Amino acid sequence: MAKERTLAILKPDCVRKNLQGEVIKRIQDAGFKILAMKQVRLTKEEASAFYAVHKGRPFFDGLIEFMTSGQCVPIALEKENAVEDFRKLIGNTDPALAEEGTIRRLYADNKGENIVHGSDSSENGVREVAFFFSERELL
Ligand code: RTP
Ligand code: MG
Repeated sequence: MAKERTLAILKPDCVRKNLQGEVIKRIQDAGFKILAMKQVRLTKEEASAFYAVHKGRPFFDGLIEFMTSGQCVPIALEKENAVEDFRKLIGNTDPALAEEGTIRRLYADNKGENIVHGSDSSENGVREVAFFFSERELL
């Protein structure tokens, strides 16, 4: 299979808990190559644009509130089968339902504050990486 890109975001709860290093280590140990990484505080406009697909859902306002509550660490990742493999590594959206050993099961408190984002399709992986990084930053 060809190399694929996916976007991870270490969410504000991850940064507040100082878990960036541990989560990044698990991502690297799982065979992902880090193409680019930064630490940023999202504005409401940026977070709303990033999660636009969830506009109108009951959890949307809380999600934007949370994602803008502190700094995030977006990370552009590359690997064969990156999107599916990364979703497997992080586990179910709700840590209580996530498999043993997954990042969310290990570190997340609840379904809203769940440590890490992962793109949900190959197209979204490309689109979400481009949301945070220019091609020059990915070389
Ligand atoms: P993500 O996009 O962050 O990787 O998470 P996901 O695909 O596993 O879940 P998704 O359905 O895309 O939801 C996006 C984020 O919204 C928050 N959420 N809260 N309280 C709730 O019922 C609820 N549902 C979703 C979570 O932060 C989730 O990761
Ligand atoms: Mg999602």
